[in-house]
Amino acid sequence: METKNTLLKRNLSEENYPQFLDWMQDVSVTGFLYSAKRMSKFKTVAEVKDFLEEEKDEIFWEIYDRRREELIGYTSLCSLNKDERSVEFSVFIFNKKYWGKGYGKEVGYKMVDYVFKELRLDEIRLETCDLHKNAILLYEKLGFKKTKLIPKDRIVFVSGEWIKAGSLQMVLKKEVIVVQDTVCCDGN
Ligand SMILES: CC(C)(COP(=O)(O)OP(=O)(O)OC[C@H]1O[C@@H](n2cnc3c(N)ncnc32)[C@H](O)[C@@H]1OP(=O)(O)O)[C@@H](O)C(=O)NCCC(=O)NCCS
Repeated sequence: METKNTLLKRNLSEENYPQFLDWMQDVSVTGFLYSAKRMSKFKTVAEVKDFLEEEKDEIFWEIYDRRREELIGYTSLCSLNKDERSVEFSVFIFNKKYWGKGYGKEVGYKMVDYVFKELRLDEIRLETCDLHKNAILLYEKLGFKKTKLIPKDRIVFVSGEWIKAGSLQMVLKKEVIVVQDTVCCDGN
């Protein structure tokens, strides 16, 4: 799969695990994540491998910058719920020099399109940190709505210290996208 500026390559190559290890250890990159503290203590590629293999049904795409052919992170889908026709989405732009340049949004739109049009599911779920303003802004741009806050659910690294934070659950329903498409087309 590809977007204007990215190439999404299916599966994670083990030769990139040392790069993932470097990023995961860096709390300025992963500080808001649920597993931030655990990741910050990773010492070996084997720990990264174990971590990435924990969700048995998780499917990954490496994210590359198309122009520089540089690895910048990964995106994934997991926890398929066949009854609810829903799946959980994650995106990690780990390479900090690409932050705030629209890469997360491009990848997000592509994954939303893939889930609704290719997989023909009805709902996408995700969970983020309630203090992670940039992530919440991104997900709201994609159309996700906040559904539930679980207070004091994770330990995150903010402003130089480990603190307790909430986990925010968000959901995007297919019908919302269909309505947006219709409004967009009518407007044209
Ligand atoms: C959070 C994250 C996914 C955002 O991706 P990104 O590529 O930096 O975000 P984008 O540039 O696509 O921004 C999308 C929107 O979110 C907001 N936003 C996100 N990051 C921003 C930043 N650093 N500066 C300004 N706006 C930002 C803006 O509203 C932006 O929309 P706009 O450009 O139309 O104004 C990315 O920073 C990241 O992966 N960080 C590390 C790992 C992580 O925390 N992942 C999220 C797990 S829940």
